[in-house]
Amino acid sequence: MAGLVAVSVGMPKDVPWHGKTVRTGVYKQPVSGPRMARRLNIDGDGQGDLHGHGGEQRAVLVYQADSYRHWAREMGRDDLTPGIFGENFTVDGLPDDEVCIGDRYRVGGALFEVTQPRVTCYRVGLRLGEPRMAALLVAHHRPGFYLRVIEEGEVEAGQEIVKVATGPEAMTVAEIDAVLYLPGHTREQVERALRIPALSPGWQASLRTLRDQDAGGGPGAGGAPASGSAGLNTAATAPPPAWPGFRPLVVTRIEPESRSVFSLHLAAPDGSALPDALPGQFLTVKVRPDGSGPPLIRSYSLSGEPGTGTYRISVKAEPHGAASNRLRRHVRTGDRLDCAAPRGTFCLADGDNPVVLLSAGVGVTPVLAMLHTLAHDHSDREVWWLHGAHDGAEHPFARESRELVGALAHARAEVYYSRPAAGDRRGVDYTDTGHLSPERVRGLGLPAEADAYLCGPEGFMAGVTGALADVGLPASRVHTETFGATAALTPGIKDHAATAPHQPADRTGTGPTVSFARSGLEVPWDDARDSLLELAEACDVPVQWSCRTGVCHTCELPLLSGKVAYSPDPVEPPAEGDVLICCSRPTQEVVLDL
Ligand SMILES: Cc1cc2nc3c(=O)[nH]c(=O)nc-3n(C[C@H](O)[C@H](O)[C@H](O)COP(=O)(O)OP(=O)(O)OC[C@H]3O[C@@H](n4cnc5c(N)ncnc54)[C@H](O)[C@@H]3O)c2cc1C
Ligand code: FES
Repeated sequence: MAGLVAVSVGMPKDVPWHGKTVRTGVYKQPVSGPRMARRLNIDGDGQGDLHGHGGEQRAVLVYQADSYRHWAREMGRDDLTPGIFGENFTVDGLPDDEVCIGDRYRVGGALFEVTQPRVTCYRVGLRLGEPRMAALLVAHHRPGFYLRVIEEGEVEAGQEIVKVATGPEAMTVAEIDAVLYLPGHTREQVERALRIPALSPGWQASLRTLRDQDAGGGPGAGGAPASGSAGLNTAATAPPPAWPGFRPLVVTRIEPESRSVFSLHLAAPDGSALPDALPGQFLTVKVRPDGSGPPLIRSYSLSGEPGTGTYRISVKAEPHGAASNRLRRHVRTGDRLDCAAPRGTFCLADGDNPVVLLSAGVGVTPVLAMLHTLAHDHSDREVWWLHGAHDGAEHPFARESRELVGALAHARAEVYYSRPAAGDRRGVDYTDTGHLSPERVRGLGLPAEADAYLCGPEGFMAGVTGALADVGLPASRVHTETFGATAALTPGIKDHAATAPHQPADRTGTGPTVSFARSGLEVPWDDARDSLLELAEACDVPVQWSCRTGVCHTCELPLLSGKVAYSPDPVEPPAEGDVLICCSRPTQEVVLDL
């Protein structure tokens, strides 16, 4: 009979870590006497980061006394006391390779259901003083698991744990953890997991992504198969890059598109067809600077029709912008530009539901490629083309987009000029005066079953994303592209004031150059740092991470060129052309899409 060895609780507290402050609830201590287990928490317990932990699906974390004995042996530790793995219930029995998702257990006056394995998070390593702990828990098939509280009631150490129902599909915690995190899962395993109603929605979403990848799906399904752990990182749902590093492409045509936007048409120097890109993907180019110095590396969404064997990028000459003005003033037809292969997951997904394409200013480029694809395919999907521009002179692709919308059976365009010029014709060149504002988006009567794709300045994206939620579009159907650094994801870190990326303040390295493309920063690698992630943090380059030890793939991003070495080896490698920055160091110059 399984038993409850200890009940541990702890409220979140601030802990210093790597010069930062982490707010974490991982410091749990055993308590004596009965405790009420409620829908969201055991009394006296709390989580620091409700994004990653806690909530109804993860109300109670369970870890086994047998795993304590395992880790004491493995790590030679004699200080592993109940609660140290951040769990609420330390239990005798209930091994991860026997307990199944959906199993129900009665403990004292409460009834629980198993919902998912433990979240792979760096904070268990922080508590144990072993940074690799999150990876070790997965690799040793000893993650522990979460419970949902079905019936609230009192629990107390020493009570028996009685199994009252078996989960459908008999999928153990260890098995489902391996399906998501380790190589070698089968399609049948993923299908089985998805048939378990008790599995938490977060895990269901990850496994659905994995299933779609196995089926050769993902954005623009039908292209090359994806690689890597698609359940962990949506980047893995795009096909691998068509070539490694940078290759020269020749500029075949330069065309003005508006007062400040111009297009560069690019082709292979030998005239062969360039590999297809997905509608919405971007190209990264090296721009030679004025005078000496390293090239500037910038990304530009492909704005032309995909599948033509050539590419078109469209660049807005920004006031004081180094690369955009360099491209405008110095690049001529016949010049060569070093380009990395098209990348990105902001891509038009297959389907027959409505599509809403929203853009402001030069943010039009990736959604224009999507409009081209819809028109080329004679799509009979309902299409909404919504665009905001300053005036007619600053309205790139006005005619091109009008013709594409006109060629579609069920398309409608709404174009707003914030300051129309005297010659701009309302009802012809534009629909109405003003911005493509959240209020306007709310009033358009957009279909709630649509997929929406939006690109434009930060404020526009934030406002419109909120408006789309208001009209009933679920977050999973709202796709965004950012023309700059992506938002940081640093679970539990407190007071993280956004600072512009800069050279490291503490030390300067002498190793190969690391280029952070989105942040426009080149930094010599410093061998004293453990990982590219640490270097990025020293430069205040916005980063995303969770486990920091090669398990969760939260830090996965495109490696635009160069090579890295891993230490520790990731539990599963990233998708081809990607890198896990939390556990890698450059072995030569690298360019990161960061
Ligand atoms: C995925 C992706 C897709 C993109 N697609 C496109 C696209 O299709 N078209 C496009 O035009 N851009 C696109 N971008 C943005 C592009 O990569 C560049 O960031 C942009 O061209 C600006 O680069 P820059 O070197 O000209 O400006 P930078 O020199 O890097 O300057 C950045 C900004 O700072 C401002 N600035 C610089 N110096 C000063 C100063 N002294 N005083 C005041 N302000 C200053 C500039 O106006 C500019 O807005 C994309 C970016 C990404 C990540
Ligand atoms: S942060 Fe988890 S793999 Fe890098």
